Amino acid sequence: MVDTAQMLNTPARLAVEVCDWLTPAVDLSLLRHQPTLVGQGVRLEPLGPQHFDGLRSLFVGEAPGPLAVALADQVKLGLVVAKERPDRADWAIVTTVDGHVVGEVVLFSLDADHDSMEFRIALSGPERFDFGYGSEATLLVRDFAFGPLGLRRLTLEVAASNARARKVYDRAGFVVEGVRRAVRLVDGIWDDVVDMALLSSDPRP
Ligand SMILES: CC(C)(COP(=O)(O)OP(=O)(O)OC[C@H]1O[C@@H](n2cnc3c(N)ncnc32)[C@H](O)[C@@H]1OP(=O)(O)O)[C@@H](O)C(=O)NCCC(=O)NCCS
Repeated sequence: MVDTAQMLNTPARLAVEVCDWLTPAVDLSLLRHQPTLVGQGVRLEPLGPQHFDGLRSLFVGEAPGPLAVALADQVKLGLVVAKERPDRADWAIVTTVDGHVVGEVVLFSLDADHDSMEFRIALSGPERFDFGYGSEATLLVRDFAFGPLGLRRLTLEVAASNARARKVYDRAGFVVEGVRRAVRLVDGIWDDVVDMALLSSDPRP
């Protein structure tokens, strides 16, 4: 019979931990100063106050009024420091052809002990959907995450009913790891949430 408690104190266990220290860690300097990522249709610029107007609908909505003004001021202050945060990377998605700001894409929830982060993306409105911006931005961040940044695992969650986003994530190689049932109320119907992830060792289509 194997004594698990004893096993955890064996030299083998220590060797595993040492090996763990030897594996290359996430390059945190690339979160503090994330580079601009350049694709064909979009480039991803480190998010800053200059992108606020293009992303107003995401950050504060379109409703006027003092509350919206106060919120906008707060967001603008946040955007001044967003670029320098050591634990996440926020980019504005900008079209290469005309320089329009069409969305944001984010790496967040850094788990530095396990070289893992979460991914999220949103375009500024439906008028921006289905031009390929989301797919290209996802691939750019995916390749940055598993390339220079050195992540081992990238996770995301998506509403089961969000077929457009599911297509983008499937195409990037994300794998379904689980389904949480009836989590969100969408248009009066309880929707499932799908957990997806990609490992550095997974195939990247
Ligand atoms: C999800 C999102 C980032 C995708 O970006 P996008 O630029 O619209 O996506 P793309 O144009 O790159 O690709 C969308 C694909 O889905 C397809 N699609 C659109 N509606 C679809 C539907 N109802 N069912 C299946 N596929 C659909 C498109 O045809 C396209 O596929 P194709 O390139 O093979 O033609 C964007 O739509 C968005 O910001 N949505 C709102 C926020 C959101 O849902 N974020 C994700 C939260 S997890």
